[in-house]
Amino acid sequence: MKNDIERVLISEEELRAKVSAAGERISRDFEGKNPLFIGVLKGCFIFMADLLRYVSIPCSMDFMAVSSYSGTTSTGAVKITKDLSEDIAGRHVIIVEDILDSGVTLNYLKQFLEQRNPASIHIATLMDKPARRKAPVYAEYSCFEIPDAFVVGYGLDYNERYRNLPYIGVLKPAVYE
Ligand code: IMP
Ligand code: MG
Repeated sequence: MKNDIERVLISEEELRAKVSAAGERISRDFEGKNPLFIGVLKGCFIFMADLLRYVSIPCSMDFMAVSSYSGTTSTGAVKITKDLSEDIAGRHVIIVEDILDSGVTLNYLKQFLEQRNPASIHIATLMDKPARRKAPVYAEYSCFEIPDAFVVGYGLDYNERYRNLPYIGVLKPAVYE
């Protein structure tokens, strides 16, 4: 697995520092608001587990799954493959994503959730690749701005592999070319 990684982009120490800071900031911003964190599966799973351990206010969690990608390229179409189990009307929602790339997924998801009348919707993303944005989406909580490279680890995959790497690595292009 490690042989497929060109370089470590974000180390475990850097992840801990930024993820804890984001959790603490969310705790201050949503004090008394009982926010509902909505994780976007599967990529969110490690980020969300770590982030939520730094959220010190009462909150709840739910998960959704969407599909839009196969391999390293977006198909452009977003499909909800797992919907929420809770009603979000009147709730302060925080969507938790692994990476904001073209923005197509989050733009779609935000509009989809807005129809259910939440009190507010914010976005927390581990990484942001602003250079690739196609849809107008802004993440209020973004831990890392990264260059346009395909990354894996800490929840992110390439064809379902590498999610269990404890750091963010740049995949060797030879792996997917
Ligand atoms: P967007 O709709 O283009 O913003 O894509 C967002 C989704 O694409 C993320 O939630 C990831 O699942 C996937 N994605 C985008 N870039 C990468 C990457 O560099 N590595 C792994 N997955 C990625
Ligand atoms: Mg994802």
